[in-house]
Amino acid sequence: MVPTAPEARGQQTASGESGTATGEDAGASFDIVVIGGGPGGYAAALYGALTDLSVAVVEFDKVGGTCLHRGCIPAKQFLETASVFRTVAGSAEFGVTSGAGSDAPPVVDFAVSQGRKQKVVNQLFKGLSGLMKGRGITVFAGTGTLLADHRVRIDGNDGSTTEIQGTDIILAAGSVPRTIPNFEVDGTLVMTSDEVLDLKELPGTVAVIGGGAIGCEFASMLSDLGSQVTVLEALPAILNGCDEDVAAVVSRSFRKRGIDVKVGVQIHGHTPNQTGGGTVISYGDGESLPVDAVVVSVGRAPRTAGLLGEGSGVVLDERGFVVADPYMRTAAAGVWAVGDLVAGTPQLAHVGFAEAIVVIKSILGEPVTPVAYDRVPWAIYCHPEVAFAGYTEATAKAAGIDVVVKKDPMGGNSRARIIGDTEGLVKVIAEKRSDGTTGRILGVHMAGPWVTEQLGAGYLAINWEATPDEVAQFIQPHPSLSETFGETVLALTGRGLHVA
Ligand code: NAI
Repeated sequence: MVPTAPEARGQQTASGESGTATGEDAGASFDIVVIGGGPGGYAAALYGALTDLSVAVVEFDKVGGTCLHRGCIPAKQFLETASVFRTVAGSAEFGVTSGAGSDAPPVVDFAVSQGRKQKVVNQLFKGLSGLMKGRGITVFAGTGTLLADHRVRIDGNDGSTTEIQGTDIILAAGSVPRTIPNFEVDGTLVMTSDEVLDLKELPGTVAVIGGGAIGCEFASMLSDLGSQVTVLEALPAILNGCDEDVAAVVSRSFRKRGIDVKVGVQIHGHTPNQTGGGTVISYGDGESLPVDAVVVSVGRAPRTAGLLGEGSGVVLDERGFVVADPYMRTAAAGVWAVGDLVAGTPQLAHVGFAEAIVVIKSILGEPVTPVAYDRVPWAIYCHPEVAFAGYTEATAKAAGIDVVVKKDPMGGNSRARIIGDTEGLVKVIAEKRSDGTTGRILGVHMAGPWVTEQLGAGYLAINWEATPDEVAQFIQPHPSLSETFGETVLALTGRGLHVA
């Protein structure tokens, strides 16, 4: 049965003007006021504005948020630069050279890549702004604070202060990079993802503190473009949360490419060089690492400081995240939360999109299914790429589930051979029924070329609760990278073509 969110609301007549708020919008009431214009917030606004609901967004920076301006989009543009560089560097193997018999290695002009990144971001920002304007969404340029009775105070970027009101409020203020003690971010010597994405030139040597999704993406990109990279991770392995076979593929590839991956390290601090720039990191048992720059990527904290005023009624957890139920309802009636600031949920832009739809449907009183957080797609764009959904082998076993596991390495895939990118594997985990037959597919884990574009079939299989017998009915084009998923699932039926 599809549950229906209990808090359906009547629709009201739109009161806001389209586009940027004007003086007349001060004191206005809207059906929905969204605080924060990142992926969670703008998705709620775009989806809500397709109905009769009047929608306002309060944003102190540019709509698009971290993802568009300081996160996913710029980072992937630089990773694409790294990919182009690898292709050019390896082109002689395909018999392609620049002519004139030159075998000089390719050179990266990072300033050009910066310019391209900004162009891509600007184009997407323009498209998003146009879409919001076209749907009649009122955007207030300022910082929103939720007060009692669904009132929102806006401290405008122009110095003004105004108040608006919403029948419903959606908190979508996002997150900021976390830092660690003794590593004050100055933007040049010590950076977070915010600053790395604005680098003018590449540092010669870099320490990346934290080997999670962000750390691995930066380590991969910086190394491919010529920096000497050391990853310092506190846990026993990088990519915590990924299936260990997948994390091992990335770890192996990193080491092969000269990235020094140090795991299980405790970092104490750093001492900037008095002359000549750079700093020396102290870690472990009296060890030290001299580098030109440090990238801190140790997770993201919720941006909830100053978000809630007296009487808002919203409850935060001990780490400052907003507590919300599966329908994204906070402790205050009619106040919802989406995106990175929600407690206990993955900090992924596409999760914010999905949560935004749950909220709008709930407000409209439509049937709605909460986001299944344990089955969302994950995609990490380092080289080799990582993509997965559902249980890992370890988490399935820890949950007491009897499992059947099949793996197929990318090396056997003809398309991978053709493109010359054979590092990786597909691993599929299915439940083992008590009669010994194979039941539902519980987890799909991939590492290798373009796997972020291939996860779709696996994600669908998990969420459709399909069995290998059902999925194996569907064929994959040959030659294609997606055959490795097809082959792994076929093997789970008891007989594969290439995998036993
Ligand atoms: P993360 O939580 O994924 O990884 C942080 C890593 O830093 C962990 O492995 C942790 O053990 C390590 N760490 C923490 N403190 C440390 C210390 N003092 N010394 C050494 N290591 C330390 O956080 P990350 O990578 O910053 O990403 C933030 C969020 O953004 C995550 O939820 C991530 O999933 C999401 N994200 C997702 C992306 C994607 O799907 N492509 C890309 C970028 C971010």
